[in-house]
Amino acid sequence: MSTPLAHQHALLTGAGGGIGAAVARAFATAGAKCTVVDIGASASKDVQQLMADFPNAIQYIACDVTDTKAIKPMVAQAASTFGPIHTLFNNAAIFDMAPLLESNEAMYDKIFSVNVKGAFFVMQAVLQHMVDSGTRGAVVNMASQAGRRGEALVSHYCASKAAIVSYTQSAALAMAPHHIRVNGISPGVIDTPMWASVDALFAKYENLPIGEKKKQVGLAVPLGYMGSPQDICGAAVFLASPEASYITAQTLNVDGGNVMS
Ligand SMILES: NC(=O)c1ccc[n+]([C@@H]2O[C@H](COP(=O)([O-])OP(=O)(O)OC[C@H]3O[C@@H](n4cnc5c(N)ncnc54)[C@H](O)[C@@H]3O)[C@@H](O)[C@H]2O)c1
Repeated sequence: MSTPLAHQHALLTGAGGGIGAAVARAFATAGAKCTVVDIGASASKDVQQLMADFPNAIQYIACDVTDTKAIKPMVAQAASTFGPIHTLFNNAAIFDMAPLLESNEAMYDKIFSVNVKGAFFVMQAVLQHMVDSGTRGAVVNMASQAGRRGEALVSHYCASKAAIVSYTQSAALAMAPHHIRVNGISPGVIDTPMWASVDALFAKYENLPIGEKKKQVGLAVPLGYMGSPQDICGAAVFLASPEASYITAQTLNVDGGNVMS
């Protein structure tokens, strides 16, 4: 079995379910010890299964990434169990939408506090830890196809993901002298728990039956179907691994052909 992440420690946020949990499983399969971070007080069923499947290789830490005071202690706790962190999979995010003229400050604040502020300060804390510990690590930030192009109903989420593409570039340049690589993944439409609320919101604003938007977006993908969380894992393992040693500042589209950039 190929273990490109052997002897590594990966920290993954928003990894209690969906894409994050699938990538944690892929990282563990690739040989990494994983610190799984999510907002829930205790480990989700997916994480409990992961702990059972990879004994002594998974720890769960509850942390709300919007609580900036909690971030550094969370990083220190992660490192005290599994040693220096080599990879950050910076994934926690939320979705919401409304017609632009109806969207309000509360929606803006909520989306930006998790998707931008939380993601930035988690990345900053882990980068500081990597610099201090001399780890030539890698960061993989989760962007979105929504960050490549605006949408009338989805302005704040789209803007939050465009910010991730930009922070990925800035952080890559800032960290290049430390030999720390910073890249992003820009998924298309991936069938995760997040899509239940995405579909329900589109149903409300586009007057569609429940399930219709999800069906439409899957059929519109050039490869012809909605992705699964596993479809993100190959790119995530690759970008975290030494195989990607000359790649930094890039955000890779993993979207069945939806975006060409
Ligand atoms: N599913 C898609 O179609 C899709 C498409 C493009 C990008 N993405 C991005 O991929 C990533 C994963 O999405 P997903 O579909 O697996 O979503 P998901 O909702 O299934 O998982 C997101 C996780 O983040 C956690 N989280 C939310 N707020 C948090 C907070 N404040 N602190 C800590 N954890 C928090 C949630 O508890 C959840 O476990 C996100 O960054 C998302 O924006 C998803």
